[in-house]
Amino acid sequence: MSKSDIALLGLGVMGKSLALNLLDHGFNVAGFDINSLNRDNAAKKARELSQQSGKGDFYNASNLGELLANLATPRVIALSVPAGSIVDSVIDQLIAAGLEAQDIVIDTGNSLWTDSERRERNYQGKLRFFSTAVSGGEVGARFGPSLMASGDLSAWQVVKPMWQAIAAKVDQHGQPLGQFESGEPCAAYLGPAGAGHYVKMVHNGIEYADMQLICEAYHVMSQLPLSAQQIGATFAKWNQGVLSSYLLEISAEILQTSDPVTHQPFVDIVLDKAGQKGTGLWTAVNALQVGVPAPTIAQAVFARAQSGQKALRVKAADMLSKPSPLAPNDFDALLDDLHDALFSAKVAVYAQGFDLIKTTAHAEQWPLDFIAIAKIWRAGCIIRAQILQDISQAYQDDSQLENLLLAPSFSAQISGKAPGWRRAVAHAALSGVPMPAISSALSYYDGLRSAVLPANLLQAQRDYFGAHSYARVDEPEHRRYHLTWSASDKQQIEL
Ligand code: 6PG
Repeated sequence: MSKSDIALLGLGVMGKSLALNLLDHGFNVAGFDINSLNRDNAAKKARELSQQSGKGDFYNASNLGELLANLATPRVIALSVPAGSIVDSVIDQLIAAGLEAQDIVIDTGNSLWTDSERRERNYQGKLRFFSTAVSGGEVGARFGPSLMASGDLSAWQVVKPMWQAIAAKVDQHGQPLGQFESGEPCAAYLGPAGAGHYVKMVHNGIEYADMQLICEAYHVMSQLPLSAQQIGATFAKWNQGVLSSYLLEISAEILQTSDPVTHQPFVDIVLDKAGQKGTGLWTAVNALQVGVPAPTIAQAVFARAQSGQKALRVKAADMLSKPSPLAPNDFDALLDDLHDALFSAKVAVYAQGFDLIKTTAHAEQWPLDFIAIAKIWRAGCIIRAQILQDISQAYQDDSQLENLLLAPSFSAQISGKAPGWRRAVAHAALSGVPMPAISSALSYYDGLRSAVLPANLLQAQRDYFGAHSYARVDEPEHRRYHLTWSASDKQQIEL
């Protein structure tokens, strides 16, 4: 057997799926996992695949030395291990096992982007550090993920053919293609090492918000009341149009699935406490730190946190009054309003996400290409959706686009849909159904289109109690003033 093109270190669900995907495309793969069960399981599946013609060979290494010895040079080792200190410890073990400066280590986990930046600095001269954030879960990794690559540019030349081969593909209209069809691959080099994980972090922030938007529409509909089956059918219908997305598609399927134990709608037997691994939280924290308004992403994280307060909510449900149910005059019109609210809020979420990416790219001096980012999210990843074709087009039409909501195609659509968006939010508020993400997106939109916000009063408050100064509307902004609030004869002092 010839030497392997790449090693997968960590053969859990994601590592094994990436390895099998690489074999499928004819690459020879070496694999190692500290857990012998994972190793044997992957080796068994890989052997079955390797027996088919045109597939690559799999080498089941029993230690790191064997793994390195089996690789062609420069060695390419993809790590599929949990994010955090384990990544550093595995890289240190690889160095101890004989890794060389030209060898390439790729972190494919959901690592914090600043860790990737640190690793790129720390491992300079010892190895070529590369990162590739992978989206699409197990099925994506196995049959075509979205790959957000970054790090050493010379390493990309080595990795590129493999990543482009295994990534999801789309046709020129952004429609997903089959695993072995040729098309535009959803894999791109984004910039220095932190960039890929940063973009993936924002992807996950958008993912959190998109999921929450759908959940809020479901919540309102379930109170009308519509059955889970009916809501699922409505979502399936919506999925044929501008809202077409993986997350809406799976939501439609989930809502139309019965629990095999009780035969009730499956969704009704799932406990309403959301879990999280933290990438949405990272996005919200980052938005707060850099001062970019991303309220809908933050609300999606808070909504998960409030869902976790189940016992408190159950207690409060008995103690706090609730409005009488609001019967809509026109059922179909309300569903249309919810549809428009979902679409508009979704565009607002992408506007927030891309604004965040733009701000950090500027601060980090990453030459990020928004067209490429929107394009590699069109298939393979969890947020894949029809809208990403339109977003990539919006950036092709105007590469300097300041905010997605200002793209003519979106601003025109949202002008038409905003009345329905407002009615949907009003309906939820009057019915007492929480709608934190959809309503925060509307406030974001209204904030964006407000030439004047009440921050004038806020600045005056700050100057009043803390002498924090203010700028005047009739003077250049750099001139700062303070008013002597406590004096009976108030004077303005220029600072
Ligand atoms: C993806 C997903 C993936 C993972 C999320 C789940 O793009 O494939 O984002 O990375 O499913 O991290 O996140 P939570 O457990 O925080 O919901």
